[in-house]
Amino acid sequence: METSSSTDNHVRKGTVAHTSLNERRARWGRMLLWALIANVTFTGVIGPYLLPREIFIYLSTLLGGDYVHQGAVLAQRPWVDAGHRLLGVTLLVAGMLQFDPQLRKVYPQLHRWAGRIFLMLVLVISATALIMGFSYPFAGPPESVFVVTVCMLLLWFSASAWREIRRRNFARHREWMIRTLGLCFFIAVQRLIYISMVVATDWPDREIFLLSNWMGVVIALVAAESWINLTRKPVPLGSAA
Ligand code: HEM
Repeated sequence: METSSSTDNHVRKGTVAHTSLNERRARWGRMLLWALIANVTFTGVIGPYLLPREIFIYLSTLLGGDYVHQGAVLAQRPWVDAGHRLLGVTLLVAGMLQFDPQLRKVYPQLHRWAGRIFLMLVLVISATALIMGFSYPFAGPPESVFVVTVCMLLLWFSASAWREIRRRNFARHREWMIRTLGLCFFIAVQRLIYISMVVATDWPDREIFLLSNWMGVVIALVAAESWINLTRKPVPLGSAA
């Protein structure tokens, strides 16, 4: 018959195995996310600002279809355009650093300040996204609806992360931060889907753009929620919900 101490041992071993599996998954996940950031930085910042013009236009026409003309449209408001791109990448990097366990342990003060900057960047990115999404949306009014929806979700997630850390509820704060940062990654997923569909199908580029945006959001949210569920610590029996 199994004694209570051998049952405890099984549970402990199971928990340790599960934790190390999650650590491995986290390492791979982090590498994937950095690769996605590198892709957005190359196609959205280095390409338009640093590559020779002809090379950028050639690549954009090859991979981006009609979207190649949108660069000049967005440049009508250069501060909004450049601010959105540069601060967008900064937001992704700041968000990744928030999840670095070493950094959090060794420089907790830095974690707090990076967190405040991250939340402020969410506001700036939402504001610039709304300006672009309403002034000259590539996919027309349905894109404006998309932009409002995503900005509302972002504000809800980030406000919840802020509220939970004010209450010093660290577990819930972490979950809302994963949702906030996860949602921001839709832009990186969207690009991959958009480029693949432009290259592989003859659908109209504007429809592909809209569809890929929504697909990016769904994939980003499902990934964030799955990670939360995989890594949620069990609430000890008898503690209040
Ligand atoms: C957080 C990281 C973000 C980054 C790095 C980022 C990056 C970019 C870049 C590089 C562009 C220029 C067009 C392109 O190359 O795709 C762009 C355009 C745009 N972004 Fe973002 N973005 C981010 C977040 C968001 C969010 C949360 C929204 C809200 C929906 C958003 C909405 C838009 C809109 C509406 C445009 C203009 C699209 C058009 O031409 O119609 N972005 N973004």
